[in-house]
Order: sequence, then C-alpha cells, then structure tokens
Amino acid sequence: MPSPIPEKSSRPDIAASELRTTRLWESLPGLSYGGDYNPEQWSRDIRLEDIQLMQQAGVNALSVGIFSWSWLEPSEGQYDFDWLDEIMDNLAAAGIKVALATATAAPPAWLVHKHPEILPVTADGTVLGQGSRRHYSPSSSIYRQYAAKITRTLAERYKGHPALVLWHVDNELGCHVDQFHGPEDAAAFRSWLARRYGSIEALNEAWGTAFWSQRYGNFEEIFTPSIAPTTLNPTQQLDFARFNSWALIDFYDMLVAVIREVTPHIPTTTNFMASSATKALDYFDWAEHVDVVANDHYLVASDTERHIELAFSADLTRGVAGGKPWMLMEHSTSAVNWQPRNMPKLPGEMHRNSLAHVARGADAVMFFQWRQSRAGSEKFHSAMVPHGGTNTRVWREVVELGAALQAMAPVQGSLVESRTAIVFDYESWWASELDSHPSTDVKYLELLRAFHRSLFLRGITTDFVHPSANLDGYDLILACTLYSVNDADAANIAAAATRGATVLVSYFSGIVDENDAVRLGGYPGAFRDLLGISVEEFHPLPESGSVTVDAGWSGTIWSEHVHLAGAEALARFTEYPLAGVPALTRNTAGTGSAWYLATFPDAESLDGIVGTLLEESGVVAPAIAAPGVELTRRRAADGTGYLFAVNHGASDAAVAASGIELISGTPFAGVVAAGAVAVIAES
Ligand code: GLA
Repeated sequence: MPSPIPEKSSRPDIAASELRTTRLWESLPGLSYGGDYNPEQWSRDIRLEDIQLMQQAGVNALSVGIFSWSWLEPSEGQYDFDWLDEIMDNLAAAGIKVALATATAAPPAWLVHKHPEILPVTADGTVLGQGSRRHYSPSSSIYRQYAAKITRTLAERYKGHPALVLWHVDNELGCHVDQFHGPEDAAAFRSWLARRYGSIEALNEAWGTAFWSQRYGNFEEIFTPSIAPTTLNPTQQLDFARFNSWALIDFYDMLVAVIREVTPHIPTTTNFMASSATKALDYFDWAEHVDVVANDHYLVASDTERHIELAFSADLTRGVAGGKPWMLMEHSTSAVNWQPRNMPKLPGEMHRNSLAHVARGADAVMFFQWRQSRAGSEKFHSAMVPHGGTNTRVWREVVELGAALQAMAPVQGSLVESRTAIVFDYESWWASELDSHPSTDVKYLELLRAFHRSLFLRGITTDFVHPSANLDGYDLILACTLYSVNDADAANIAAAATRGATVLVSYFSGIVDENDAVRLGGYPGAFRDLLGISVEEFHPLPESGSVTVDAGWSGTIWSEHVHLAGAEALARFTEYPLAGVPALTRNTAGTGSAWYLATFPDAESLDGIVGTLLEESGVVAPAIAAPGVELTRRRAADGTGYLFAVNHGASDAAVAASGIELISGTPFAGVVAAGAVAVIAES
C-alpha cells in the first residue's frame, strides 16, 4: 500500500509569517483593546461620535467591516467605498489600528440571486438559503471567484493605508455550517481523497471496505457520507471531518493568496472558536495558516463554573498558538443573544474575564461589538457602547478596562509558564465519538476537562498540546481518551515518559490507528508496552451506573478488564465481574512513569489522583494563594515574571507575592480584593 499523502494545504513560509507577526505586534504596542466595528449600521453623526468615545475608552484596535459586502458593492461591479474611506482615515487620525475584513462572511443578495449554486447543502440535501449569514460553500468555484474579487478590490484600495495592520479573513469559518454536501463539495472530497490515498486500493484498505461490501472501483463512485439506511463507514466519516476542516482552510488560503499579491507585508488571520463547543475544525492544523492566532470566546451564562470553561478555551487557544501570544478577537461585555436565557455578566465579571484571557496568553482584548445594534438578529447582544449609551455600568466598566489594559502594557509579548500538558487531538475527538462504539457516554472532552478543572482549582496552569508536539519541558502529561493515534505520536508520548516525565493515559486511548483500524493484540495497542498492561474486554457502565474501586473511589461511564504486564496496580475494582481487576496502574518507564486509568473517577478521587501525580512530577502552583484564586505567570524575555491573580471569590484573598501591581501602579500588599484581579510585576 502506498504511504498516504498527508492531505494538508502546503505550509506557508514560516520565516515570512514570523516577520509579519513581529511587525503586527510592533504596530500594536502594549495590549490591544477594541472590538468588531460595523459602521455601515450607523449614520455619519454617530460614526463621528464613535471616534470620540473610542478614544475615551482607550480603544486602539478594531475589526472593521466584517459583514459589509452589500454596502461596499451594492450591485455587481458597482462599488461604494466613500464611507469606509472616511472611517479608515478618521481611525488613522485617532491612532486606532484596523484589522480590515474581507467582507466575505455574508454574500450579498444579488450574488445569491444570480448564482444560487453557491449555497451550502446539508447531509439531507437541504439547501441553506439567503437572509442570514455564512450562506456559501467553501468549495463553490463561483463563490471563490467572487470572494477573491471583493478581497482583491479591498486590498488594492487600502494597501498602504496607515490604519491597516491586519487582514481579518472572512469570519469564524465553519460557524453555523461545518459540513458541506453539495455537488462541488463531493467533487472536492473525491479529489482530496485521491490526493490523500494516491490510489483507490489504498483507500479501500484504509476504509476497511471489505466490510459490508463497500469496496470502491474508482474515486468517482464515492459520495459524501450523508443519509444511508444505517451507520456509515467510520473511516469515511472521519475523512469527511478532515476534509471539511481542510476545505475551509483551503478557502482561507485562497483569499490569503490574493491578499499576499497586493499587500505581502500585512499579516492575515481569522477568528477561531476554540472552546468546548467547537468540534469540527482542527485548529492545530489551522494555526499553521494564520500569522497570529485569534480566538472568539463566549461564556454560557447558566454555567456556574464558566470561569473554568473560559480558562479551558484560553489554554486551548494558547496551545494551538504554540504558546505564542494570541488575540482575543471577540468576547462579550455582558449578555449574548443566542442562548435560551441571556443573563448579563455580573459587575466586575467582564474585567475578570478579560484579564483571565490575558493571564493565559492573550495580547489583545476585543469584543463583539463596538456599538450595540438597534436592528437585526443581534440587537440584544451586549456591546462596548450599549443601547443605553454612556451612563451605564457596561460603559463605565469598558472605560475602566481600557485604562487597566494600558497600565498592563509591559505584559505584551511575555509567555505563559506551564510544566503540565494535556494532549488534545481533534481527530481523536471526531473518531472517539463516531457511532457504533462501546458506549455513547464516552465523550472526548469530559475526562480531559475534569483533569483540567482539578489542575485549575489547584492553581496549576495547563497547556493543551497536539500529540505530535515537542513535549520537552513538561513534567506531567495527561493523555485522555486519545482513542486514535498514529505510531509516531504514540512514540512521542512514550519518549516523554522515558526521559523522566510522569505520563497518565486514560481508558479508550490508543485503541485505533489514524485510519480507525483497531490495533490488535490487546488494548490499548498504541500504549500497551509503555503502560505495562493489556486490556482484554471493555465493560462500559449502564447509564448513570457506577463502579466501586478499593481506593475509596467510585467510577462512572467505563470499566474494563485490565491485566498487568509489568505495571503495578494502585487501585482495583471491587465488584463482580471485575472484582480485583486493576483500575489504576503505574509502570516505570525509563526515568519516568506511565500511569493508566481504567474508569472515570468521581471528582474528589480524580483530584486525589492529580495530587499524587503533581507530587511525583514536582509540579507546583506559581504562588501560594487562598482557595478560589486563579493563578498564572507570564514571563517576559528580560526575565520579569508577571503573576496574575484573579479572585473569583466573594472575600478578599491572600496571595504570597511581592512586586509592583501594574493596574494600581503601587506595591502589591499581599491581598486581592473580592472579585478583583492583581497583575504583579514580581521583584
Ligand atoms: C460570533 C460572530 C459575531 C457575533 C458573535 C455573537 O462570534 O463572529 O459576528 O455574531 O458571535 O456572540
């Protein structure tokens, strides 16, 4: 079988990209502050007032014109740039920098009317229509031509404009629609498969088409996995997930190629949605294509631990950014409009949220959006300037935040410190949650987030890393539900243990290879030797069922028949039919260790396991602080440490640190007030 050709777009020139990124941060000194600006929704008077208010709030960066195509090109070939010219000039005069959008995230009505074939098609054949946004397929040849044309026109007009520092390509690619089943999508899928596999025989082998007579004679016989009598070929589904993430990247790359021809020195990005909610896009893959990682994050108002979910999203974003500073391109000042009940943020919450993102590596804090719309779907979504104007809590907090970020300017460019990594793999997320598995209760993120939560509450910063990442520098590495893994990545994780790290692997990891074919000879095939165990059979638990373990804990979701093959058992199941079977094991691997967890422990027991792992690996929090204080440290190139302490509690909290607190500009007195944030330049 010919070796598969990795189906990725060609990697951009990394040196040129780094140069553009350096230039970007030089043109945005300090921490950037602003939001989406949609001036086409407002009269000229209000647009002029906007500039005054932006200056009052300390705004220095905006994403402009994201949904403005039908105002820039009201009918085909007829352009109106006067309004945007004036805005760009006024922003430049006010010293505000612009991430200019390509305006391609909402095709104009005239284009849909002329070319309805650009519209996206869902798995059941439904054509998604006009009247909303994101109504196009990234593989539509016609749409690609039109999108390239408006992008080139914008680039030609604003090349050399003093306000322009970044291109905001499209918007949240993959939002609302992330799978495309139209005729051109199917053709693109076939070409992608042909490039990935090289021959139809290789595809048949990879997809295991000997099963259910699914053998293909040529690529033309293949369709997108849509509606079928029962479960579809899992590898076809996995490849379709890979394809859709790639097709959106390919659309992004196509627009970037146009931009590069006209403005080769201006960096490009698009806003990711890295969080617990976005599964469809492999952001580790995406990150190679942007000059700077930008992320959007929205809290779920009803989540009582939403600050931990925020930390999860920010740590994931830093992970896909390879640890480098990133931009928080959107979050909200208060309520959103798209949840069932849109509660406002509590007083001070926006401040904590914003600084928690900075604490985890963001060098820009931006919002959707500058001014709250008076019409349209998002009129009840909060903004920096609310419907009520400037005599409002939100506006006062916006102005205070601007001042705080200005005082924190020295933080720019510093890097977040972490010695703990959780392996994060979108492909395992996709593959582990396919149908026809041992249990529908195995959800990729759950165990991973439970570990992240325990570490967060202990003040330990965790990096999310791709399985192929350089793991040097991590003393504790967790691989949870890493269901699908290739040989090289499995070896990478094993090597980390051998050179001295403490590595924990959970159940339903290392089960299949990259083609979703089971690794034979006992689970988990990819990690059996590392762990010194072999799993004979899975025993998933009934819905809401639990299992007891002799260490005093209970497990849910999963149990299994583990045999020791070199490892020692640290805890054992106690009940029939698995009484006496290991539930937690530890193996010595080189100078490190490899632990295996065979169930989903209750929160307290999981935290106890984390405590033991931290002790063994020697990882400690960046400071000693009262419970409830979120801690991280960013380290500047000159060696200065910036300790962030976010007090999520209702009482003042002690933090053992000394230095100058940047927001107040005074020596840190050892206490962070209830609900407040301290940023301490450590002495
Ligand atoms: C996304 C989009 C924005 C806006 C916000 C609302 O992040 O990019 O245009 O719709 O959601 O929360």
